[in-house]
Amino acid sequence: MKVLWITATAAIVVAAVAPAAQQAAAPDPCITCHRRQSPGIYEQWKGSKHAAAGIGCLDCHQADPADADAFLHHGATIATLVTPKDCGGCHEQEAEQVRHSYHATAGKILDSQDAYLAHVAGGAPVAIQGCESCHGTKVVVDPSSPDKLSKKSWPNSGIGRINPDCSLGSCTACHTRHAFSTAQARQPEACSKCHLGPDHPQKEIYEESKHGNAFFTNIAKMNLDSDSWVVGVDYSAAPTCATCHMGATRTEASTHDVGERIAWTLRPPISRYKPDHERKRANMKNVCSSCHEKPFVDGHFYQFDATVRLYNEKFAEPATHIMDMIRKKGLLEHKAAFSNPIEWTYWELWHHEGRRARHGAAMMGPDYTWWHGFYEVAQHFYFKFLPEARAYNDPEVDAYIDQLLTKNPMHDWIDKDTAQLKQEIRSGEMQKTYDGMFKEE
Ligand code: HEC
Ligand code: HEC
Ligand code: HEC
Ligand code: HEC
Ligand code: HEC
Ligand code: HEC
Ligand code: HEC
Ligand code: HEC
Repeated sequence: MKVLWITATAAIVVAAVAPAAQQAAAPDPCITCHRRQSPGIYEQWKGSKHAAAGIGCLDCHQADPADADAFLHHGATIATLVTPKDCGGCHEQEAEQVRHSYHATAGKILDSQDAYLAHVAGGAPVAIQGCESCHGTKVVVDPSSPDKLSKKSWPNSGIGRINPDCSLGSCTACHTRHAFSTAQARQPEACSKCHLGPDHPQKEIYEESKHGNAFFTNIAKMNLDSDSWVVGVDYSAAPTCATCHMGATRTEASTHDVGERIAWTLRPPISRYKPDHERKRANMKNVCSSCHEKPFVDGHFYQFDATVRLYNEKFAEPATHIMDMIRKKGLLEHKAAFSNPIEWTYWELWHHEGRRARHGAAMMGPDYTWWHGFYEVAQHFYFKFLPEARAYNDPEVDAYIDQLLTKNPMHDWIDKDTAQLKQEIRSGEMQKTYDGMFKEE
């Protein structure tokens, strides 16, 4: 880690916590008062590496009087917010990587489809406490408030928070204050406030996976407090979220840019490769190769990529085509987006079960791949989405669905004889339909 500067106040803080005999300077007023005022904050800070290194309250909270959120507090000019720009004063590299990461843009989604849904189906309070609490809000300065922050946008520790100093994100999203502990951030719980639930259950998938099993049964062997944390060298019992997406390997440095190892984006209705995906895939495989051999790792990605293509080609592409036809032809009953049941059905198909299926496959969670994933995708596609589409009685839509169910070898099972289908599975004939989805990289 690169620490650029330590201020004069840091030296005073060291004095404040040093044994009485060594005390030369006056005790730090922030600490003297806050120790009584908010003992929790004091204790968290006192146990931290920051306190040990002499980094005190003012090193982080001191502000320039010209800062929009600066206020006078017991003789000092401070700000409550400590943004990535502030932390970056000492941790330049981490701040730079966060700035380039996909995380940093998460607050800019606020006028996306989902935000629309929060505002029309929900309302402003839930947009603030729901979406913005994970993605990050635009922090509004309120000059009339004692801490200069509007109560409608603070507290907030969203991953892509838009700060008054124009920096993006909040380091506390993963580094819980005031301990700012690396050991904590290395554990899956650090990601679990956001990466869980019906539309991105990475936490649940991890808990289900062999990797999660190995982690939770071996936490004591994970060497979490070590300064150096190279997989295969400093620990080898299990990978955590941080290991695969951020951690150092024998040949790869750790990174705060969580997109550096992601080849697909599995978020949109139809999955697609990200720019530079071969390099990113190689980065991820490099992590696996600390604990597995190449054929094993290649095998996993061969299966995973095929499963993504299966989801795309069998369900996502036809459902998206049908939905586009319905929209373009003006068949929807109500005007506003999300005011018609079929829009919700389509949405959940890709955004909920469709993502669960893909995320389960990526991270070795078979229950999410199948029961919470493909099983529900199939059920909702055949028995909710298609019937709702047919209810419009549109000849063109009906013809497309008829063609799909009778001529497409992935879907024509519907009107075949069960015994015949079982025979096709036993002979391997049925599986051949899907051969094209398995491709060498
Ligand atoms: C004399 C006691 C005292 C001293 C000295 C003091 N504080 Fe405070 N601080 C408080 C109290 C009380 C509050 C709660 C403010 C309120 O209720 O409006 C507070 C609030 C804060 C907040 C949160 C403000 C908000 O409302 O968002 C920060 C950050 C803070 N103090 C940091 C500091 C720092 C840094 C120093 C050293 C320069 C310091 N404090 C010195 C008593 C003190
Ligand atoms: C390493 C940097 C750092 C240090 C050192 C630090 N803080 Fe903070 N503090 C933060 C961050 C980050 C936040 C959250 C603000 C944000 O999200 O931008 C925060 C928030 C706060 C808050 C408001 C939130 C709350 O829970 O009430 C108070 C009060 C506060 N700090 C007091 C202190 C005091 C007192 C000290 C010294 C004992 C201290 N801080 C030391 C970074 C720091
Ligand atoms: C004034 C300089 C300074 C500022 C500002 C600062 N840090 Fe630090 N930070 C340090 C120093 C010094 C260390 C200790 C290095 C060591 O022990 O090797 C450290 C250590 C850390 C660690 C490692 C802790 C561990 O358990 O190993 C984390 C994480 C961290 N800082 C996060 C932050 C965050 C987040 C912010 C902003 C909220 C911040 N720092 C602000 C100087 C700073
Ligand atoms: C529990 C935290 C959480 C809440 C609440 C939440 N999101 Fe998300 N959102 C995430 C995470 C995590 C991802 C990334 C998932 C992934 O990569 O698999 C995401 C992804 C997204 C994406 C896709 C971004 C892209 O580039 O493809 C959009 C858009 C989005 N969220 C908007 C919203 C809106 C709007 C709301 C409120 C209606 C909301 N989210 C509520 C955590 C949350
Ligand atoms: C997505 C979660 C996440 C966010 C956001 C995050 N960190 Fe970290 N940070 C981690 C993890 C995980 C580690 C441990 C990495 C390791 O040891 O492999 C870490 C480690 C660190 C360290 C210890 C040295 C190092 O680089 O390993 C510092 C310092 C640090 N982070 C600072 C920051 C700062 C500053 C920010 C905001 C600009 C920030 N972090 C934002 C997860 C995060
Ligand atoms: C064994 C390594 C490993 C572990 C552990 C792991 N992941 Fe992943 N993760 C992957 C792989 C592989 C992918 C797919 C990469 C690709 O697109 O090729 C992925 C994809 C993702 C994505 C992108 C999903 C999208 O919609 O595009 C997110 C977000 C994510 N993981 C978060 C997490 C979180 C949070 C945890 C811990 C709860 C975690 N991962 C644990 C390997 C891992
Ligand atoms: C405070 C919420 C929050 C926390 C904590 C968080 N994330 Fe995220 N993460 C998000 C959101 C939101 C997105 C989607 C970003 C967007 O839409 O711009 C995301 C996206 C991602 C992606 C996809 C990146 C890409 O380029 O496609 C990965 C991988 C990821 N997070 C990993 C992690 C890991 C690992 C941790 C814990 C060490 C973590 N996240 C902690 C909210 C969070
Ligand atoms: C820190 C070591 C470590 C890393 C890194 C790691 N794994 Fe694993 N992996 C394990 C362990 C331990 C098991 C459990 C072995 C067993 O079944 O007994 C496992 C099991 C697996 C399994 C079998 C799952 C099952 O249900 O049988 C697959 C597939 C897998 N890993 C793929 C990967 C991939 C892909 C990566 C990189 C993205 C990766 N692993 C990274 C340690 C690791």
